[in-house]
Amino acid sequence: MAEPILKWAGGKRQLLDALYARFPESFDRYHEPFVGGGALFFDLEPSAGTINDANSRLVSLYERVRDEPDRLIERLESFEDPESDPDPDLPYAETTQRGRDVESYYYQQRARFNDRPYTGEYDPLEEAALLVYLNRTCYNGLYRENADGGFNVPIGRYANPDWVKRDRIRRASDVLADVEVSNRDFEYVLDVADAGDLVYFDPPYEPMSPTADFTAYSADGFDREDQERLIEVATTLDDRGVNVLVSNSGVTYDRYAEAGFHVDTVDATRAINSDGDGREAVDEVIATNVPEPARLADGQRALSTFEER
Ligand SMILES: C[S@@+](CC[C@H](N)C(=O)[O-])C[C@H]1O[C@@H](n2cnc3c(N)ncnc32)[C@H](O)[C@@H]1O
Repeated sequence: MAEPILKWAGGKRQLLDALYARFPESFDRYHEPFVGGGALFFDLEPSAGTINDANSRLVSLYERVRDEPDRLIERLESFEDPESDPDPDLPYAETTQRGRDVESYYYQQRARFNDRPYTGEYDPLEEAALLVYLNRTCYNGLYRENADGGFNVPIGRYANPDWVKRDRIRRASDVLADVEVSNRDFEYVLDVADAGDLVYFDPPYEPMSPTADFTAYSADGFDREDQERLIEVATTLDDRGVNVLVSNSGVTYDRYAEAGFHVDTVDATRAINSDGDGREAVDEVIATNVPEPARLADGQRALSTFEER
């Protein structure tokens, strides 16, 4: 099985078993409209389908990983230690576009990544490499943008940061080659999912408290109206005979139950927690239209993955 290239807010690695336990025994194509870091997608390695995300830089990275993994690895190998001095041959060696002092190589690369709209020639491979580098060297491995769309996470403290991850990139490249990748709103799935397919939705969660920033995945938020729109899309797919699986925050339990889905609460421990004070358990729900008797029995995950490929 492949593994995610990025650490991503809301990553689903801890929920994989709970998600697989609700899979139908078999399905045709696999679609994941809010793919993010793609914990389930990379683990599953589906042989056909679509993945999508509203974050254009993330989608652009996946295209580079798919089409030129070795060139991406080469670029990543050329990056320096985050705490070293800025590279005098690259832009922003002294001050950022906002006139702030650039204290280290990390902050120089961050300023380069935030150089949008690009003043020089736009190089998607360089942007992809910067995204991976910053994700692997920043504090808490978090992707967060401020209101202007700037990546604003400070430098992380790692004894030995590994931002190259050659094997992951090569393996992910093979997995990405089997699906279509797009950068749209999640509703595109209504145009592509047929009866017998499986759709997994993992939307940005509603914040559990006013200070929680779990929804800060990209500059544009995902609000209650979007959550309602998602329930409508899930219901339309259900009517069409598509298998639907949704993970969401505990507060949406009743809405999915009212819409006729089977809903269970699962305890997930967040992989990313900004207070650094240990990992806080929060309630999540998994809603599905797959009835229990039609589900994949526990422990058959490896076999089903094998058959799918
Ligand atoms: C909870 S994260 C997905 C995490 C993913 N399952 C993982 O394992 O890393 C939600 C994703 O939805 C994306 N997103 C936000 N609004 C969207 C929209 N309207 N349509 C599609 N994707 C959207 C965000 O950019 C974010 O990557």
